[in-house]
This record gives sequence, C-alpha cells and structure tokens, in this order.
Amino acid sequence: LPTSSPPVPPESLTLRLLQTIIFHNASSTDMQGMALLGDLETHSLDCSTCKVRFLQPWAQQGLTPKQWQDLEKLIYNNLSNFIRMVNILVQEEGEGYPFVTQFTEGCELLPNGTSRRFCDAGMNGEDFVSFETDSGKWVARRGDKLTLKAQEILNYNQVVAITLQFLLRMTCVNQIKSFVQHGKESLERGQNWGLARTARPTPDPGEWSWAWLVS
Ligand SMILES: *[C@@H]1O[C@H](CO)[C@@H](O)[C@H](O)[C@H]1NC(C)=O
Ligand SMILES: *[C@@H]1O[C@H](CO)[C@@H](O)[C@H](O)[C@H]1NC(C)=O
Ligand SMILES: *[C@@H]1O[C@H](CO)[C@@H](O)[C@H](O)[C@H]1NC(C)=O
Repeated sequence: LPTSSPPVPPESLTLRLLQTIIFHNASSTDMQGMALLGDLETHSLDCSTCKVRFLQPWAQQGLTPKQWQDLEKLIYNNLSNFIRMVNILVQEEGEGYPFVTQFTEGCELLPNGTSRRFCDAGMNGEDFVSFETDSGKWVARRGDKLTLKAQEILNYNQVVAITLQFLLRMTCVNQIKSFVQHGKESLERGQNWGLARTARPTPDPGEWSWAWLVS
C-alpha cells in the first residue's frame, strides 16, 4: 500500500464514460462516446476510427501513449463483438430496427478515499441491464425475453466481467486521482472543481487528435 497520501478531491468527484450506439439496421451502426469528470467533458471517442480525443490539456495523463493505444484497440474490438452479439440477439428475438443502446460506466471517488463504481446499460432510453461490480454479475432491469437473454449471455462471459471489474476498480479510480493531481493546477487557480465545471470549452475536435499526443 502507498505510504504517501494519495490525491483525493475535496468533494466527491465522478468520472463517467457515456457511450451511445445507434443501430440503424443490421449492417449500419453509429457510436459516440465521451468521458466526463464531474460535468467537464475530458475525452471524446468517435468510433468510425475509435480514436480518443483529449479535450483538456491534462486529459492524456495517467496512461502512457501505448496504454491509450491498447485501450483504443480494446474498445474497437470489444465494440465490434458487442455489435455483432446485439445484432444476432435482436434478430433471434424478432426485435426491429432502429434502436439505441446507451452505456454509463465509471466511478465516484469520495473525500474519505473510498470509491463507488457503476455500470448501467439502457435501451431506447429505458434501463436494460446493470453490472454489479462487487459480485461481478449482470442484473436484468426489466423482465422481457430480450433482456433476460442478454443478461444470460453477459453473465456467461467471465472475461468481460473480470475486465470490467478491473477497469472500474483500478483504472477508473487511478484516472480520477491522476486528473485531480494534473488538472488541479490548470483548474484550481483560485477556482474549485465546482466552478471548473461551468467552464466548459468547445475545442475544435481536430485540434486534440491522437496525432497530437504521439507527435
Ligand atoms: C442501413 O442504414 C444506413 C444508414 O441509415 C443506410 O444508409 C443503409 O442504406 C441501410 N442499409 C440497409 C441494408 O437497409
Ligand atoms: C476485448 O478486447 C481485448 C483486446 O483486444 C480482447 O483481448 C478481448 O478478448 C475482447 N473481449 C471481447 C468480449 O470482445
Ligand atoms: C466514506 O464516505 C461515504 C459517503 O459519505 C460513506 O458512505 C462511507 O461509509 C465512508 N467510508 C469510510 C470507510 O469511512
């Protein structure tokens, strides 16, 4: 265990990833993702390429360029597999297109150093399934056949559960700590995290491309 005091925000702080996937039909999907620290947008993800864009000067901190690249690869591969699985399931269950799935996952770091994790999936704006990070189990949030089938498939895949537990328990919490440390200087300057939330920039998406990080 670390002996130096870890950076902990003065008030509870949440890092969340939001992903929206629009299934137009069996062969066409659009995916958009973003990360928010509190209400401040820190990253965006356009999955025509699955490149992470850094929207804050400190947003690339905490992971090495290689780790960001691996994360992009993991998202791209897992998303392709997820889209394939959903298309098969939807066709088996005779559900129609188009439809939208939304994911919210992340963690909240509390001032006493403990953290809370969450991972919820929705479909067409309704709760669908949630991942319980402590038990590593997916729980159906509605009782229809499609949802129960999805829950069964997700629970069958232990690798996904273990990966998610790791990402939410370790990576997410470490990222918040890193952002607190690296973002403090640029965000604080007489402000606090609450004020920083209102200063939402609108960067040119091309400006903070992956190429910028590796150059
Ligand atoms: C699927 O949806 C896309 C985007 O809306 C559309 O361009 C394409 O023609 C559709 N393909 C089929 C097979 O319906
Ligand atoms: C997710 O991506 C990683 C890295 O590419 C791969 O090892 C893993 O099997 C993938 N998992 C799923 C469920 O697609
Ligand atoms: C930390 O704070 C949270 C929220 O205030 C509380 O629920 C939890 O019990 C606390 N944990 C410890 C170990 O103090």
